[in-house]
Amino acid sequence: MQRKRIAIIGAGPSGMAALRAFKSAERGGTDVPDVVCYEKQDDWGGQWNFSWRTGTDRYGEPVHSSMYRNLWSNGPKEALEFAEYTFDQHFGRPISSYPPREVLWDYINGRAVESDVKDAVLFAHAVRRVEFDSESERFTVTVDDLRHKATITEVFDEVIVATGHFSFPNVPDFEGIGTFPGEVIHAHEFRGAERFAGQRLLLIGGSYSAEDIGIQSHKMGARQVTMSYRTQPQGFAWPDGVDEVPEVARFDGSVAHFVDGTSREFDAVVLCTGYLHHYPFLPHESRIDSPNNLYPDGLYRGVTWQKNPRLHYLGAQDQWFTFNMFDAQAWFVRDLILGRFALPDADERQAHIDEWKSAYAEVATDEAAVRFQADYIRDLIEQTDYPMFDLDEVVATFLAWKADKKVDILTYRDKAYPSVMTGTMATVHHTAWMDELDDSRERYLSTQLDADEASEPVS
Ligand SMILES: Cc1cc2nc3c(=O)[nH]c(=O)nc-3n(C[C@H](O)[C@H](O)[C@H](O)COP(=O)(O)OP(=O)(O)OC[C@H]3O[C@@H](n4cnc5c(N)ncnc54)[C@H](O)[C@@H]3O)c2cc1C
Ligand SMILES: NC(=O)c1ccc[n+]([C@@H]2O[C@H](COP(=O)([O-])OP(=O)(O)OC[C@H]3O[C@@H](n4cnc5c(N)ncnc54)[C@H](OP(=O)(O)O)[C@@H]3O)[C@@H](O)[C@H]2O)c1
Repeated sequence: MQRKRIAIIGAGPSGMAALRAFKSAERGGTDVPDVVCYEKQDDWGGQWNFSWRTGTDRYGEPVHSSMYRNLWSNGPKEALEFAEYTFDQHFGRPISSYPPREVLWDYINGRAVESDVKDAVLFAHAVRRVEFDSESERFTVTVDDLRHKATITEVFDEVIVATGHFSFPNVPDFEGIGTFPGEVIHAHEFRGAERFAGQRLLLIGGSYSAEDIGIQSHKMGARQVTMSYRTQPQGFAWPDGVDEVPEVARFDGSVAHFVDGTSREFDAVVLCTGYLHHYPFLPHESRIDSPNNLYPDGLYRGVTWQKNPRLHYLGAQDQWFTFNMFDAQAWFVRDLILGRFALPDADERQAHIDEWKSAYAEVATDEAAVRFQADYIRDLIEQTDYPMFDLDEVVATFLAWKADKKVDILTYRDKAYPSVMTGTMATVHHTAWMDELDDSRERYLSTQLDADEASEPVS
């Protein structure tokens, strides 16, 4: 009998989790399907594969990553740790709880290299079209090989979409913004805060991008940082020079007028207004159409497309948990594909979706949201051989993180947490986050002694 063929679209953390899941089954002696992963960038890592570019890449494709040079993890690494590839295993010594971007890329790359799965990935391959033939029950996938300028089509039994959902900016319109004389960008195009030194900056949005770009800009010397929220203020004890105002009513030249009747003049605007679920390679009836939330509609167990259970999505949820949630999802989808458990019929699946959606409708606080996502992950892991970990302990870590942020938004990244997987206590980084101006992996992994030497004046 011919082996099943599986396409994974995207080699970010979710696609890499799927590759790891199949490899782990293979190493355990299971006969696994042929797996091909298409990745449009030249390397894996998804968002963590940083690019200085904005707009389009060297192939003319939309730049995928929304990350910026000086991005550090905004949650403790202990909350995202893989249960079967720990930070201790990778770095060989404890590191701090909030590593910069290059260090987290190093960690996910390390696991993927150890899995020996690079051969399964076709880099610089952009998926253009995925069509399902209901007679043969197979997908035809059309892909552009960007380096060789060739279009290929391949047939697959199941497709796993792992293309992320923080790459296509949500860009609302505001009256008068078209004649704002300064720079107007979306967070997706933000690459570094040095450019805002001395400027009066308006960030529109009340979530993680606004918060982090706001404090990065403060750190890099912005004269004034104003964040404009639509629904509710973030409510942190902002340092002098940073504050929150309600929604923008209109712009008049360089002046923004807010709905409370106040107004301020600005030099630059960053739209931190989130992202769209966007899957241009799928027909509309197969695309998630959802706001960024913890239970997008139409997915059985948050991963399998209800209308066509041979199509799966990984990482489609808003994310408290990240890497270990993608693992839980990947292991579940793998086992479904391997036939390790039976797929319930459409009615049963719908009842399950409805049950989780009603539970999600009751979620009213951040704490409840974290617990909801922990319960979701637990439910997935219970059905596979992915190592169960203490999800309640991770919830406690998230709550402590939130409390730290409330105390001081500029110092929360200096705190340390124990690993839920190994018990190892994180170190305190040699330099406070506010004083650290070198975000490189080399600098981060240098010891206190190296750090002291680096800051000694040259005589
Ligand atoms: C600014 C920012 C900061 C973040 N910071 C953190 C953080 O500190 N900690 C944390 O845990 N999470 C963070 N995240 C969340 C982040 O979404 C996850 O960590 C993770 O990257 C999601 O993995 P993914 O594989 O689902 O998607 P992505 O990382 O987005 O990867 C998707 C991959 O699919 C590829 N792809 C897309 N379309 C196609 C196509 N048509 N054909 C072929 N390939 C395609 C892309 O090139 C990409 O490699 C951040 C996100 C953003 C936007
Ligand atoms: N350092 C880091 O690690 C870091 C930094 C940045 C981002 N991230 C990650 O990036 C992901 C995306 O975060 P995000 O903040 O970009 O998106 P997000 O969490 O989806 O938030 C979008 C924000 O935009 C607001 N908004 C949307 N439309 C608007 C409009 N028309 N007018 C005014 N406000 C509007 C929303 O307001 P409402 O609340 O009213 O809907 C919300 O506050 C998250 O996973 C986050 O963790 C991480």
